[in-house]
Amino acid sequence: MTATVIDGKAFAAKVRTQVAEHVTRLKSDHGITPGLAVVLVGEDPASQVYVRSKGKMTNEVGMNSYEHKLDVDTSEEALLKVIDDLNNDPAVHGILVQLPLPDHMDSDLVINAIDPAKDVDGFHISNVGLLGTGQKSMVPCTPLGCLMMLRDHHGSISGMNAVVVGRSNIVGKPMAQLLLGDSATVTIAHSRTKDLPDVVRQADIVVAAVGRPEMVQGDWIKPGATVIDVGINRIDAGLKDDGTPKTRLVGDAHFESCAAVAGAITPVPGGVGPMTIACLLANTVTACCRANGLSEPDGLTA
Ligand code: GUN
Repeated sequence: MTATVIDGKAFAAKVRTQVAEHVTRLKSDHGITPGLAVVLVGEDPASQVYVRSKGKMTNEVGMNSYEHKLDVDTSEEALLKVIDDLNNDPAVHGILVQLPLPDHMDSDLVINAIDPAKDVDGFHISNVGLLGTGQKSMVPCTPLGCLMMLRDHHGSISGMNAVVVGRSNIVGKPMAQLLLGDSATVTIAHSRTKDLPDVVRQADIVVAAVGRPEMVQGDWIKPGATVIDVGINRIDAGLKDDGTPKTRLVGDAHFESCAAVAGAITPVPGGVGPMTIACLLANTVTACCRANGLSEPDGLTA
């Protein structure tokens, strides 16, 4: 292996420390405690784990955490009422509605009901538009975490060739906007891109966010390039000694082959994943500062 492994877990801990320091100052100097409300509809086990973990880390950095757990057959109207109440609650500075929502709900309608100033996911159409036009916005957490790691590793990414593999609204598209904002030359590729390996081979920075386990291979990578792996995929890994199935967490890049060629790479787990929650906390502090007309923390926004 030649690549430097970018330690997202350690970096996320550093970001959380910065957030905690800012929270301490908000409390002591202004008597304000930032608050994050997380709304979960239904009992999807993976979502429950995420929501618990978000609540715990919110408290650990000194912020207030409000959890709203609604039944899977809650009406859309009832969910919109919860969001309206949170929009009007001055103790709540950030609102996150955990996705996916049950099928009987219109996710776009629900997300666009959140006050854009409290939209710490950065999914509201106003924030999408602000980011796309280079204006101050709330920025989606996963791409923000990727950008922070790239800035930390490279100093500046100005003029670099970046290829984002994946075109989702949550990661691919906002990632491309952020890279462009930092003056990279950006290509958005995806599973149907012609000659995808050749396209990726042009990249100084590859962001793998295509949702296919280990799709990006080592021979797609330009020697010395930086690979940011956003994927989280659980795959079969044979059987345990007792004969029960074993699974393994992998990214969208094939780690071993990519690490043999890349200059730097984020691992899965322990790369982008921990940065996502750290950036959610950072966004909540940012939203709290903006709501109160106070200066924002340095280095925690795009
Ligand atoms: N479900 C999986 N990832 C996310 C995320 O980043 N935000 C929300 N709201 N739901 C998710």
